[in-house]
Amino acid sequence: MGKLALTGGKAVGAPRMEPWPPVGDDDREALLKALDSREWCRLTESSAVGAFEQEFAAYQDARYGIAVANGTVAIELALLAAGVEAGDEVILPAVTFIATASAVSMVNAVPVFVDVDPDTIAIDPEAVAEAITPRTKGILAVLYGGYPVDFDRLLPLAQANHLWLIEDAAHAHGTEWKGRKVGAIGTAGTFSFQMTKSLPGGEGGAVLTDDEELYERAMLLHNIGRGMEARKYGHVVVASNYRMSEFQGAVLGTQLSKLPSQVDKKHENGEWLAAELTRIGGIRPLKRDPRVTKRGYYFFVMRYDREEFGGVPRDRFVDAMQAEGMDVFPAYDIPIYANRAYHQAGRGNTGPVRVPSLNPGPDYDNMHLPVAERFCREEQVVMLHHWLLADGPQLQKVVDAIVKIKDNAEELLS
Ligand SMILES: Cc1ncc(COP(=O)(O)O)c(C=O)c1O
Repeated sequence: MGKLALTGGKAVGAPRMEPWPPVGDDDREALLKALDSREWCRLTESSAVGAFEQEFAAYQDARYGIAVANGTVAIELALLAAGVEAGDEVILPAVTFIATASAVSMVNAVPVFVDVDPDTIAIDPEAVAEAITPRTKGILAVLYGGYPVDFDRLLPLAQANHLWLIEDAAHAHGTEWKGRKVGAIGTAGTFSFQMTKSLPGGEGGAVLTDDEELYERAMLLHNIGRGMEARKYGHVVVASNYRMSEFQGAVLGTQLSKLPSQVDKKHENGEWLAAELTRIGGIRPLKRDPRVTKRGYYFFVMRYDREEFGGVPRDRFVDAMQAEGMDVFPAYDIPIYANRAYHQAGRGNTGPVRVPSLNPGPDYDNMHLPVAERFCREEQVVMLHHWLLADGPQLQKVVDAIVKIKDNAEELLS
């Protein structure tokens, strides 16, 4: 019998923490109010969705916000509002959730995957520069785990090449770059309020922007091509229905009031945990950068170095952590282009309505981006954001479990 829980020893034990998402009387009251109003769709003056989208935009330092059904269609809407057309190339990172790429495919544009920076897992600006062609229309940059992209390099690059920059900020509620919250630093930004996210609404999403014209277009498109004054049938563009329901809007309103203090606490605990990991060695946090003035979190991302753990593979380390009571996991364990979905879809316009002749597009079958592949397959270990709401002594257990595994790594090799 070994010392590690996986080899029969006593587990460190899971930290005590509140379950996610948090539920309070304010959420119950808001939901009941929406129910009793019998106005379950946002098409009224007193809409909870209308109030929420404005409050959320203000929180993220954006002038305009449009709440939508989820984070996936938020990206589709942002792409359409930015003027994407079938066959256009959109540059995006290979490390993300598939929705970033599938949204590009769904509007019949072509996802062009590029590699990420090994220290931040943000899209690599040099790789972006190399991927630009005359067909490129924009950059869809993911704020991975909540870590911002390098706006100082991406914005001038976008500008010089007449590209839009959309931030997929599904992970990044509350994140700040040089004192400004993300979402409208580029042309537009999109968020997810799916239940596990740091602002949970069951499902939900938003598009934020400072660009009035883009906002007007997105507003029109999101309501089947008509203005918000309309219960009427005057549709001016052909579009889909992206609207958020009043139930989502109601619960997001109360959840938003809890977000700022949660973001602060997670930021502080994240800084503490990052310093502890650096001390342990072999399991690195993302790079500290003074321009990142506040870290919003979806994942607390750790990079595992097998060599420093006596040759124990990443997945065996994850099993050992779970046995100790730590709910860590490898997250997205392959780059997006390696998904069967992209291999089956073929090349070019990979959406459900195939227009393959428009643009041959990249060869996903034979694509290899080394940083993304190593990170996804060998290094990435994540913890969900709400663990950072645990009190210090509870979070200490994560550190204790890692140290214990490192000290007894040989038990995991037999
Ligand atoms: C990076 C990223 N983009 C987009 C989405 C899509 O959001 P949703 O699940 O709300 O559709 C997700 C969802 O997890 C995501 O992680």
